[in-house]
Amino acid sequence: MPEKSFYITTPIYYVNDKPHLGHLYTTVASDSKARFHRLRGDNVYFLTGTDEHGQKLEQAAKEFNTDVLTLCNENSLKFQDLWKKFNIQYDDYIRTTEKRHISGVQEIWRRVKNSGDIYLGTYSGWYAVRDEAFYNDSELQENAEGKKIAPSGAEVEWIEEPSYFFRLSKFQDRLLEFYEQNPDFIKPVSRRNEVLKFVESGLKDLSVSRTSFKWGIPVPEDEKHIIYVWFDALSNYITAPGFGEDGVSSSNPWPAEQHFIGKDILRFHAVFWPAFLLSAKLPLPKQIFSHGWWTVEGQKMSKSLGNAVDPNWLLEEYSIDAIRYFLLREIPFGLDGDFSHKNLIERINADLANDLGNLLNRVLNMIKKYLKNEINTDFSIDDEEEKKLTQEVSILSSSYEKNMLETNFQESLKDIWRIISLGNKYIDRMAPWTLAKEKRFNDLNFVLYHSVGLIRIVAGMLIPIMPDTSKEIAKQIGLGADWNNSSFEDLMNFYELPKKFKIDLGCPLFPKIEEEEQNSILNRVSERISDKSK
Ligand code: MSP
Repeated sequence: MPEKSFYITTPIYYVNDKPHLGHLYTTVASDSKARFHRLRGDNVYFLTGTDEHGQKLEQAAKEFNTDVLTLCNENSLKFQDLWKKFNIQYDDYIRTTEKRHISGVQEIWRRVKNSGDIYLGTYSGWYAVRDEAFYNDSELQENAEGKKIAPSGAEVEWIEEPSYFFRLSKFQDRLLEFYEQNPDFIKPVSRRNEVLKFVESGLKDLSVSRTSFKWGIPVPEDEKHIIYVWFDALSNYITAPGFGEDGVSSSNPWPAEQHFIGKDILRFHAVFWPAFLLSAKLPLPKQIFSHGWWTVEGQKMSKSLGNAVDPNWLLEEYSIDAIRYFLLREIPFGLDGDFSHKNLIERINADLANDLGNLLNRVLNMIKKYLKNEINTDFSIDDEEEKKLTQEVSILSSSYEKNMLETNFQESLKDIWRIISLGNKYIDRMAPWTLAKEKRFNDLNFVLYHSVGLIRIVAGMLIPIMPDTSKEIAKQIGLGADWNNSSFEDLMNFYELPKKFKIDLGCPLFPKIEEEEQNSILNRVSERISDKSK
């Protein structure tokens, strides 16, 4: 069977500041989805990167008293370093200041212009630099200081300048038709409805160039104009894999299967981006998945409150996989949720130390104690218990697979934990300690073999979300380093586990965080927040 290609993206992040929890969230989710598809044997192209143009960047450089490219270089590195630390296995990293991107964007511009969808005019209206977005008067509110504020909370300013416009209005009907024919284009459904309502209410032409600052990509043949930063940024998804004057190369995996984004940037991805592509006569992405926003300890995460969570601090308190697990387990992908250290610690203690950690520990300790680290079984026993166990696990692993395909991380993790609980109950029922006491070594081998078989399936299912943990489990149950080269099907099959093998009992996967340690973590966290808000 030919390999299926699977192209997935994160948004490209603004480099006006260092990365925070929100960036980590989308990136961990995309990485997990990409790893899941690699596991299924798909030809994966996972793209992330940084958005390095626009007025916001130019202003940030002024604030930091540095030149813009230096700021971009420094902050882009912070993102790349962080992704390394969190085991993010991207296939490509695009920076919009790269040549391959600049020439690609100019080519898309030319195509849109040749389609007759760009004309020169004057923009006069509101602009929020923080969002790099234009707003109508009707969308704005006044804050306590009497300043006009966009729905995002960003301050707006009035601008009046010559500008090229994109005929967005022309695409209203084509977009609506496209959404109708592709009901899964925007996920979740609530976000789809939001977009439909916005487009149905009427689209106005969009200003796509600015003339009052310099930091960006010049419009071809009219260099006074800088291409609107969202036209520039969205194009990254197609310029990264290679798009220049000769168009999309045959090795370009475009169109992407999924764009993962946050709910605040939905309109750009679900309305503007497909309209640009339609105009440039390029294929449209298959799906835009818009996730929710995290609050932190019940409060909106914001620079002014000083409560933005730096993922590097999290790593000083918790393991990579505990954080990855928490982010994808705590809330359904698509809804908002709260990041609370108490909840994170509770999940580590209950789900990771207790359920998962104990299962591994008790099984391996029994193999060590009763069988001198070695399993040796001949399958001669055909027992109803094991038939039931393997069937139940197989139903749950199919459900896990379906949930991962549907980008339902929380449910797929619940499926894994249902298997863990089946494993713990199986051991309680079979009571290997009694078998050992009665010296029924055939039965004992058989039961512990099935216990390890179940753990091996759990490790296989954890590969996408908790890559280090799955490797460690595999090592401890005595699988070779290349165990995860097996097909997903084989990994989900109990009986792919050899009949004879030696285990390699190691340290507990997730030590329990005791009360005293919990208090010191919580103290350190609040000290950091109060230091920052001073
Ligand atoms: N540069 C644009 C994206 C261009 S893509 C062609 C941008 N960058 S960003 O750095 O501001 O934001 C990136 C992502 O972080 C967005 O998807 C946004 O939703 C996400 N988050 C920012 N704060 C967040 C939370 N508090 N919670 C979850 N995600 C959040 O927008």
